[in-house]
Order: sequence, then structure tokens, then C-alpha cells
Amino acid sequence: MSLDLKSLVRTIPDYPKKGILFRDITTLIEHPEGFKESVERLAATYRGQGITHVAGIEARGFIFGAGVAIALGVGFIPIRKKGKLPGETIGQNYALEYGVDTIEIHADVVSAGHKVLLVDDLIATGGTAIAAVGLLRRTGASCDDAAFVIDLPDIGGAAKLAAEGVRVQSLIAFEGH
Ligand code: PRP
Ligand code: MG
Repeated sequence: MSLDLKSLVRTIPDYPKKGILFRDITTLIEHPEGFKESVERLAATYRGQGITHVAGIEARGFIFGAGVAIALGVGFIPIRKKGKLPGETIGQNYALEYGVDTIEIHADVVSAGHKVLLVDDLIATGGTAIAAVGLLRRTGASCDDAAFVIDLPDIGGAAKLAAEGVRVQSLIAFEGH
């Protein structure tokens, strides 16, 4: 396992707005070995660590999170945007650049004694991941590990997540914004 995963991520300037460099993982997941190696490398850290569930954040976190859950032999929890889950839910608001959004999980999906690994494609401000960790912890479960394909370290989200007591792993870092 020694692919240059970073070179498989496409950068698109000025999307979704001028001045933003969008880090596009569609080119990474379209590459069979790149996708497989990304999932394998994310999962490897947690083998034998007692992880009971992997939680992935809609939408791009589903792509990698589902693979990591299969690799670890544990179940997958979809953390969904508001209004998509059919059962009783608990939700957590989080700030976007403009306004707020809400993520939800089923209220009964995990509880005390469970050890959840959070997976998403990318961490920038950390707002989404911190909301997800808070939501999972409100069930009584522990969520002390989070894994991302891409970190944008200059924005500082990974450091903020670490300050919440979460061990953060990322495979690729893009300096600058
Ligand atoms: C993106 C990305 C992360 C989040 C990171 O998701 O997939 O989930 O933003 O940003 P943050 O660290 O500043 O919170 P987005 O909600 O844009 O959409 P998608 O995953 O549904 O494509
Ligand atoms: Mg996302």
C-alpha cells in the first residue's frame, strides 16, 4: 500500500465560489486501488481497538465510512441531514458559513458501552465533525476517534476536534485553504 493518494484528489478552483479551492474526492474513489487503499489505511489504525460502530456523515462520509465499517467488521451508522431518518431521532445544530444546519441519528442506535469511530471525507472548520461527536456522545456512547481522508490544517478544525478529546487521523493534508 503505497499509492500517492494526494495526487488522486482533484483540485477545482473557484468552486463553490470564487477563491475556494475545492478538494474533489470523486477522482480518488473512481480509482479502484486509490479507493481501496484509502479505506484500508483509515481502518488499519483501529484494528483491535474495540470499535463497535462506524458513523459516517451524509453525504461524502457515507462513501468512506461504509467501507471502513466493512473493513473493521462492525455496523455502520448514517448521520443524516435533518428529516431523512424514519424513526425517533436526536439532532444537533451546527453553524455553516451562512445559517445553521442539523444532523440527526436514530435515538436508539447506540448507547453507553458502545465505542464509535467517526468517519468523514474532509475536515475544514471542524463544525460538522464536532457536532457529530457531540451528538454521538449524547447517547452515552463514547466517540473518541475520528478519521478523515483530507485535512485542511490551516483552517484548524482538526485541532479543535482534538481539543474535544478526540484522536484525529487524516491521510492527506492540503496546506492553505
Ligand atoms: C463537507 C465535507 C465535510 C464538511 C467539512 O460536507 O464533506 O462533511 O463539509 O466541513 P467543516 O469541517 O467546515 O464542517 P458538506 O456538508 O459540504 O456536503 P456533503 O458531504 O453532503 O457533500
Ligand atoms: Mg460532508
